[in-house]
Amino acid sequence: MAVKRPSGPKSSGIMGSASQFSEDEPAFLLESIKKYGDLVYFRLAHLHTYLVGHPDLIREVLVTQSDKFEKAPLDKQILGKFLGNGLLTSDGDFHRRQRRLAQPAFHSKRIHNYAKVMLDYANQIMAGWENEAVVDITEEMMHLTMLIVSKTLFDADAIAESGDTAVTIGSAMEDLQAVSNRDYQRGVSLPNWVPTADNRLRNRAVAEFNKVMDQIIAGRRQTAVNGQVEDSGDLLSMLMLSVDEDGEFMDDKQLRDEVATLFAAGHETTSNALSWTWFLLAQHPETEAKLHAELDSVLAGRQPTLADLPNLPYSLQIIKEAIRLYPPAWILNGRLALADVELGGYTVPKGSTVFISPYVMHHLPHYFDEPDAFKPERFTPEFEKSLPKFAYMPFGGGARVCIGNAFAMMEAQLILATIAQNYRLTLAQTEPVRYNTQITLTPENGIQMKVVERETAVSPTPELALA
Ligand code: HEM
Repeated sequence: MAVKRPSGPKSSGIMGSASQFSEDEPAFLLESIKKYGDLVYFRLAHLHTYLVGHPDLIREVLVTQSDKFEKAPLDKQILGKFLGNGLLTSDGDFHRRQRRLAQPAFHSKRIHNYAKVMLDYANQIMAGWENEAVVDITEEMMHLTMLIVSKTLFDADAIAESGDTAVTIGSAMEDLQAVSNRDYQRGVSLPNWVPTADNRLRNRAVAEFNKVMDQIIAGRRQTAVNGQVEDSGDLLSMLMLSVDEDGEFMDDKQLRDEVATLFAAGHETTSNALSWTWFLLAQHPETEAKLHAELDSVLAGRQPTLADLPNLPYSLQIIKEAIRLYPPAWILNGRLALADVELGGYTVPKGSTVFISPYVMHHLPHYFDEPDAFKPERFTPEFEKSLPKFAYMPFGGGARVCIGNAFAMMEAQLILATIAQNYRLTLAQTEPVRYNTQITLTPENGIQMKVVERETAVSPTPELALA
């Protein structure tokens, strides 16, 4: 019997809707939900795709019926080539075990210790800026978040013999993400042994990454006392110290996969959040002025600290609004239906792919008045309480909600406060800024910005400056 499908854009020919989709994916998805309703069907080549655009149905997929789904094969295939069987790409019981093992590393007490690292590196980045210089802010933010993730994950700058570890790993990661982006564009990832330029690049980058990580892990094991790895305060220590209910630790391969996953998931996303924030602030001087007023009145010229964050609500509202408009994870990984699933009055057949897009949800006028406008003021506690869960979802939801959510928000708020206290960033390009939508929502060709010292600027206090 033919399956009754929800309506959706016309999907004819071998490729279905693939070419309209790839022209501008977020716009295509948003228009589809606006036009056809809460559940939309279209075909992307051989993939039968269902796009979910209502919070209640999203809850079904991510929470109530989540056991009927797993991460889609294309995501696993492409991302798995460098993230192995880490948190982002694994499923089922194995994922649940790994999530339990990794969770303590993200305990609030633990991540609060990273505030100083975040502030130190923000100061270090600013120290490289000359007044009125033009920088590509996406490169600056990427470099900054990469330094932070390397330090907080595996204490990168403590590893003298590996040279500049953060840079080695960072450039391997950049190559891996670039190749993966191209795989997503092609909609296929050829087996590693096929001698294409991209496969060669990926194989080399994976080997480089693994070599450095193996050295780091072996170093930790060497200094273990009675088999107990020393807790050096970073995320890797915590992962190495975690035991499951059978008393088992993660093995070295699994540790490597988790570190690669946290490195990849944890820096480009936050970097994009910040780049979009600077871009939006530069176009909204009244918001920028209000931010400066908050910083000046709360901090009165001293550096922000973790303890100040609750007293800087406007800076948090700015970030929340920036990642509403430009959610770095603009679409969740596809979910493969493992069985027929009843959803919104339809049957989503086994083998279909379900898409959920934070970008789409965040631009629906039903939940966000003037959805395209940058209005940090909307994020009042009352508004947030009134929003249905999953209408605003920059970090996903359910059991697979982003594990680095609190880490990322703390990092973004600290960096915003530290830099905005010292600099105004103004747009220094006339070409429009467009987004690029591969793995994350990135400014397509970077954003050229002029960094202008503020008159009330503070210089880093000596105890915060990096040694
Ligand atoms: C603004 C910054 C960030 C955004 C917008 C973001 C967004 C997301 C989203 C939407 C998911 C769910 C993906 C899905 O369900 O398919 C996710 C998962 C994940 N994120 Fe983040 N993330 C951010 C920062 C971070 C940071 C800083 C880390 C780690 C240091 C991190 C680590 C992870 C991991 C490991 C997962 C997989 C969790 C699981 O499946 O159990 N993320 N992130």
